Amino acid sequence: MGIFVTPDYHFELTTDHTSYLFNVLESGDLGHVYYGPKLAWPNYANLEANEFRMVMPVLRPDTPEFSLDNLKQEYPSYGHGDFRYPAYQITYPDGSRISEFQYDHYAIVRGKTALPHFPSAFSDGDQDDVETLTVYLEDKTAKLSLALNYSVFPHQDVIVRSAAFTNTGTGSVTLDAAGSFAVDLPSSCFDLYQLSGAWARERHLYHRPLTRGIQSVSSTRNSSSAQQNPFIALGSKQIDDANGAVYGFSLIYSGSFLAQAEVDYYDTTRVTMGINPFDFVWQLAPEESFQTPEGILTYSDQGWNGMSDNFHQFLTHHLLPQRWVNQDRPILINNWEATYFNFNEEKLVALGEKAKALGIELLVLDDGWFGKRNDATTSLGDWEANLAKLPNGLAGLSKKIHGLGLKFGLWFEPEMVSQESNLYKAHPDWVIHVPNRRMTPSRNQFVLDFSRTEVIDYLYRAMSQAIQEAQLDYIKWDMNRHITELYSLALPPEREKELGYRYIQGVYQLYERLTTAFPDVLFESCASGGGRFDPGLLYYAPQAWTSDDTDAMERLKIQWGTSLVYPLSTMGAHVSAVPNHQTRRITSLKTRAEVAYFGLLGYELDITKLSLADETTIKDQIRFYKTHRTLLQHGKFIRLVSPYANDGNVTAWMVISPDGTEAIAARYQVLAEPNPDYHWLKFTGLDPQAVYTINGQGQYGGDELMSAGLFIPQLFDIRKARDPSFDQKHSFDFSSALFLIKRVAPR
Ligand code: DGJ
Repeated sequence: MGIFVTPDYHFELTTDHTSYLFNVLESGDLGHVYYGPKLAWPNYANLEANEFRMVMPVLRPDTPEFSLDNLKQEYPSYGHGDFRYPAYQITYPDGSRISEFQYDHYAIVRGKTALPHFPSAFSDGDQDDVETLTVYLEDKTAKLSLALNYSVFPHQDVIVRSAAFTNTGTGSVTLDAAGSFAVDLPSSCFDLYQLSGAWARERHLYHRPLTRGIQSVSSTRNSSSAQQNPFIALGSKQIDDANGAVYGFSLIYSGSFLAQAEVDYYDTTRVTMGINPFDFVWQLAPEESFQTPEGILTYSDQGWNGMSDNFHQFLTHHLLPQRWVNQDRPILINNWEATYFNFNEEKLVALGEKAKALGIELLVLDDGWFGKRNDATTSLGDWEANLAKLPNGLAGLSKKIHGLGLKFGLWFEPEMVSQESNLYKAHPDWVIHVPNRRMTPSRNQFVLDFSRTEVIDYLYRAMSQAIQEAQLDYIKWDMNRHITELYSLALPPEREKELGYRYIQGVYQLYERLTTAFPDVLFESCASGGGRFDPGLLYYAPQAWTSDDTDAMERLKIQWGTSLVYPLSTMGAHVSAVPNHQTRRITSLKTRAEVAYFGLLGYELDITKLSLADETTIKDQIRFYKTHRTLLQHGKFIRLVSPYANDGNVTAWMVISPDGTEAIAARYQVLAEPNPDYHWLKFTGLDPQAVYTINGQGQYGGDELMSAGLFIPQLFDIRKARDPSFDQKHSFDFSSALFLIKRVAPR
């Protein structure tokens, strides 16, 4: 039983390893009690810790120790004595901003149904022990009701929370802020971790100690963004990959968000997360409801691997499209870095022929196939084949690619329009902009107003037609700029601040219509690389292009950071040419592939120009990946050595099969070292009682591999340099090694 309610209204939410407790306070507000390791017998008086302090506002003189100022709260409001930042804020028609939501009743149901037309968690009906509690509160004066939803996913140690406001009165009210959840933790003895970056440097891991006051991570870009991912974690001071307490928080939303930790005057830490209240206001008319996006809360005392496994299992089983989730994903060739805009049908067919010979399964035709697009200045919005490049149209090309025995995929950037396009000429009003104000192009393009149904309808028609014409198997949905001059010509003035949220709803709507009409088309999301890699989009598109930065060494940090929340089955990872197009670094084909194996393998280089040796190497790589694909895409991912630790010179990670019989580990070293220290690689997650071989050699006890580790010989024995047969140009920088670990016998 995941949810239990005591007769005096203490709500106990229990997962396999955690407890989440809250209660109805004597004032009718909801108080937060505890979130953390599972408690068998909570002592509520102890956990609530309610005592008199000087200078605190009290609701009733006869209970001087009862103040919202110092109590932990569940979904706090502003104005009745709690001076910390609230979870929501409402302005009433008389200009007042004081809300009084008081407990009314609750309901518990088995399972969790997805929210209509919005990305959200779901359960497998009766089969997975998921339960949902909704606590209803009423503000009788304002005639508003508030439903707080809690779904308990016991086996992933996850609780999903959201809030829904309903106006049961006769006048409109204004929602100025509507967070998805708040949780008050009793101390600030944590570091705040975040995944931040920029284009080509997405999701690097940063941390800072929590300190009194507010620390936050947010986006104002109307996109979750490469700059900040909608994720924060509070990690204990001693955390490492395998040990230590950590709270992880994420949001099923792709627009502007705010994640905040506020440490108050008594060392309590309030975490809130949701739609960014900056530039957001929602008019809640009579009989209307506003449902917030869902927040994901998890706790683990098993360090980063514990937290990320909770996220991975949860996203895999309860958020990603189940049509794709357990399917092995195709190895693809993408023509972007192979040709950029400079291709024609002949070139694509040549790429396809070589791809087939190498063992590749899907050809993705990237940007430049439509309108008159030969560079980044024109044609976005005109989703019809460029006949100068593709004289037989999409159908003709697709027939040839399919005829080779390959799947065929196409790039779109549906949310955008170029000024030089038929679409712009026909519908200049569909562009997000403010009349008589400067318009700010980015990559020469503007953003379509996705709050307008006619825009979604147009794109649905255009994309459906292309899907049918080309019999598409795959779509890469790109998004290459953030919104400026946020304003819709279709919304009334008082609703303009709803546009950011309505825009993202439009994106979800188009995804929903397309994925429903074409369930067999695999979608990959993209935003100048990994600029919108978030749980919201993963609900529709089970994979995302991780980063435009394909340099193997750079990818270590990007893929490591990404993997903290997102499973390997979501991360596009391509082998590209050297010198690398983003860094000019030269790494070996071996290292490039051994990084890309830990994700969804693709190739993004001109494979028609390979040397014979590289061709043979790539064939072997693809054979290797296919042999181990299920393990590499769907195995349990475990981080071993962090690129963010020490000097970052060594990174190591592994995947292990669910039954523990096989694992593949990789160790990467950025720079070679002369006469190095002795290195050992310690594995995690093996059976201490079992015996393993590594790369078919030796016999090692699981206990030894985990406690002492595997000895890693130096990369370069100095005597080799004096050997005349040694390739004097060989570099040991940017090296990688794979370890195939097989259980041979229980001891
Ligand atoms: C940005 C993407 O990240 C690239 O992979 C490529 O699709 C380009 N856009 C095309 O314009």
